[in-house]
Amino acid sequence: MKHKISSEKEMIEFGKDIATKLNGGDIVLLYGDLGSGKTTLTKGIASYFGIEDVVSPTFTLMQEYQINKSASTQVSKFVHIDTYRLEDAEDLVEIGAEDYLGDGNTICIIEWPEKIEGLLADKKVTKIIIEHDGEYGRRIKIED
Ligand SMILES: Nc1ncnc2c1ncn2[C@@H]1O[C@H](COP(=O)(O)OP(=O)(O)OP(=O)(O)O)[C@@H](O)[C@H]1O
Ligand SMILES: [Mg+2]
Repeated sequence: MKHKISSEKEMIEFGKDIATKLNGGDIVLLYGDLGSGKTTLTKGIASYFGIEDVVSPTFTLMQEYQINKSASTQVSKFVHIDTYRLEDAEDLVEIGAEDYLGDGNTICIIEWPEKIEGLLADKKVTKIIIEHDGEYGRRIKIED
C-alpha cells in the first residue's frame, strides 16, 4: 500500500490511523533516512493510545510506555526502540528488548531496524518505508 503525505500534521494523523489497526504483539519497523519522519509517525501512533510524551530514544535505545486507555485491544505497553546509536544488537538484548518483541500485550515500534535483523528474523513484522518527497512531502509504503 502506498500513501502520500504533505505535512508533519498529516504524518501524525497517518500514525493515528495506523494505530487503529494495531494489536498486542505487533512489531512495526520504520525505515527511512534521517529526518524522514519515523519519530513523528511514532508520536502519531502513540497519541492514539493516549501517550503524548514520546521522546526519541536515540540515547536510551528503548523507551517503554504504559497504555492506560485501550478501547478495543488488550494492549498495555507501547515500546519505542531506536537503534541509530546501537553498536551491538546484544546491547538491546541486555536491556530486555527481547521480552517485548512479539509479546501479546505490547506494541513495538522500531526505528532503524536494519541494525537488528538478527533479532527480528523469526518475528512477524509490518514494514513501513518512508521516503522524502520535497521538504514537507513524504511517500510511505506499507508491507505486511
Ligand atoms: N510530512 C512530514 N512528515 C514528518 N516530518 C516532517 C514532514 N515534513 C517536515 N517534517 C519535519 O521533518 C522532521 C522529521 O523528524 P523525525 O525526528 O520525525 O525524523 P526521523 O526519521 O525520526 O529522524 P531520525 O532518523 O533522526 O530519527 C521534523 O523536523 C519535521 O518537522
Ligand atoms: Mg527518529
